Amino acid sequence: MSTESMTKVPLHVSMIMDGNGRWAKERGKERVEGHFAGVESVRACVEAAVENGVKYLSLYAFSEENWNRPQAEVDTLMGLMVKAMANEMDSLDRNGVRFVVLGNRARLADELNATIDSCMERTKDNDVLVLIIFLSYSGKWDILQAAMKMAEDMKDNPGRKEEIVNEGVKAFDRYLVTADIPDPDLIVRTSGESRLSNYLLWQGAYSELLFVDTLWPDFRKDDFRKALESYAKRDRRYGKVK
Ligand code: IPE
Ligand code: IPE
Ligand code: MG
Repeated sequence: MSTESMTKVPLHVSMIMDGNGRWAKERGKERVEGHFAGVESVRACVEAAVENGVKYLSLYAFSEENWNRPQAEVDTLMGLMVKAMANEMDSLDRNGVRFVVLGNRARLADELNATIDSCMERTKDNDVLVLIIFLSYSGKWDILQAAMKMAEDMKDNPGRKEEIVNEGVKAFDRYLVTADIPDPDLIVRTSGESRLSNYLLWQGAYSELLFVDTLWPDFRKDDFRKALESYAKRDRRYGKVK
């Protein structure tokens, strides 16, 4: 990349990891084989993010709607989460990756929650890359839980309502599960689908969107670099005239 485009490295890249089932089907395998294969793509993206100076990488791993899939697939996916976290954590920690899981944690099994807590605690001081896994997440759920927390806050503090009104939308950001995380600059969805499927609806208000045909288990470092190149060419105007 040119020096000019190098200055336009996104701070936060987010991936909607889609197409695992179709990848498996193309090979005459069970859908879950696609999920297993997708772990290698996660590894590739983490490495590519670090190599290219991206500071936040977030991955949509399981939506609130995905709970409606056949129980066997849900169970396999949840088991895979535990296994992948256990397998990858040494390497992530060694490489300075802070690991964060965001979503409706109340719906996750105790074993998974315990694994998540220990991985988050272990890596909390790392600062090379923040890797965020959105698990049991949906944008509408996030906005609803934020609204409920805000209402609770206003009930207890009469002065709080005025503060929120004065501060505007920024005040609401702090109630979302992403309170400490900058909004995604770039959201990439694999597998040729051009939709957000209830992902980061609030936070993605001004994200650049990129839809690629590659199925998630085929996504590699080169694809990640190409996504960064596409981003570098974008002109973000935020409603202003440039
Ligand atoms: C993405 O792949 C993984 C999850 C949503 C959990 P899919 O399982 O949605 O694969 P396709 O879209 O059916 O091919
Ligand atoms: C979106 O993929 C959710 C994740 C990638 C985790 P889906 O495969 O669930 O989305 P739809 O059903 O095609 O919209
Ligand atoms: Mg899908």
